[in-house]
Amino acid sequence: MELFDELERVGKAFCIEGQFLGYETIQMGNVNKTYKVHFRKSGGGEKSYLIQKVNTYAFRDPVGLMNNIDKVTEHIRRKNPGGTALHFHHTADRKTYLMEGEGFWRMTNFIPSVTYDTVPDPSLAVSAGRAFGRFQMELSDFSPEELIETIPNFHNTRWRYEQLLQAIRENRAGRLEEVQEEIDYLLSVQTLACTLTDLQQAGQLPLRVTHNDTKVNNVLFDPETLEALTVIDLDTVMPGLVGHDFGDAIRFGANRTEEDCRQLDQVGIDLEMFRCFADGFLSVTAGVLTDTEKDTLALSAFVMTVEVAARFLADFLDGDLYFNIKYPEHNLVRTRCQITLARDMLANMPRMEGIIRELVEKTLHA
Ligand SMILES: Nc1ncnc2c1ncn2[C@@H]1O[C@H](COP(=O)(O)OP(=O)(O)O)[C@@H](O)[C@H]1O
Ligand SMILES: [Mg+2]
Repeated sequence: MELFDELERVGKAFCIEGQFLGYETIQMGNVNKTYKVHFRKSGGGEKSYLIQKVNTYAFRDPVGLMNNIDKVTEHIRRKNPGGTALHFHHTADRKTYLMEGEGFWRMTNFIPSVTYDTVPDPSLAVSAGRAFGRFQMELSDFSPEELIETIPNFHNTRWRYEQLLQAIRENRAGRLEEVQEEIDYLLSVQTLACTLTDLQQAGQLPLRVTHNDTKVNNVLFDPETLEALTVIDLDTVMPGLVGHDFGDAIRFGANRTEEDCRQLDQVGIDLEMFRCFADGFLSVTAGVLTDTEKDTLALSAFVMTVEVAARFLADFLDGDLYFNIKYPEHNLVRTRCQITLARDMLANMPRMEGIIRELVEKTLHA
């Protein structure tokens, strides 16, 4: 079926009345297929919505995932009735999704906004940090046990290390000899990298609801004021630790380069960007996070960086089965970039911890 007809049919299935006028494909994002669609209402006005075709290869339990999203968005909406938020439309049989054959569709309000793939200036990092912090706070009284783990063991660092050791033992792609240095480094920092997982298992870090994809392109900004309007892309919302969201945002957004940069002398932590994101994040969360959570926030950036390095390396050894690659040694390039970033974070850890302490003080005594 033509895409035009398909989107028209999906809109009707979500009970949108009026004439279907057309659609635009949204290029940003790389997991789902996203379309802005336009309808003419019976009164004559036009209205836009957002339709997504969910990637059911990445998300094997899309119904469970939609249940998670539904619970979380409803909780946020109840707390903040007038605020800008994602709202999922329902089908005639009151479902937030339409499942037919290999197609899994959903439909939300379209929020007029701008999005960025990389942070164009530090003030936006403050807004993005505040937006992800606010998301944490809105869900701080929601019990994470109500959510399924959409990707089991996602941030279980010990398990990630076991997967790496298995990939080393199996050496499926015959690449082991090339990566001895990377393996040595990752094994040398294993204990430190497993800090969050171990503290959680010892009951010293609370389980919360986490977003798990805290990239800046998952924040919608007001086109006029550039204030963050809301956080989107809730597919990976699940139980987790606050450091998972904070740390991954820093790993991705406060690296001076892309995550697969080959010029390793340029890779490193941008402390100004780190400070800005942390400032926004802590300005809303500092009063609620436990001391152990705050004390491990800077370290969490290192933990998330090592964890993803271990995943890239395991995938390189397996023969590139999980991550999409653009060239044969792409996963090795990613591994080296992340290891370089992790080393630089460790060298700067006292400074990063100092910045966190300073910002916590500032917020608590404001
Ligand atoms: N409700 C919305 N209103 C306006 N734009 C949106 C909305 N939802 C998504 N977008 C745009 O579509 C892009 C991709 O959506 P997203 O849900 O993040 O998909 P993916 O999982 O593929 O990253 C976003 O980066 C944003 O630019
Ligand atoms: Mg996205």
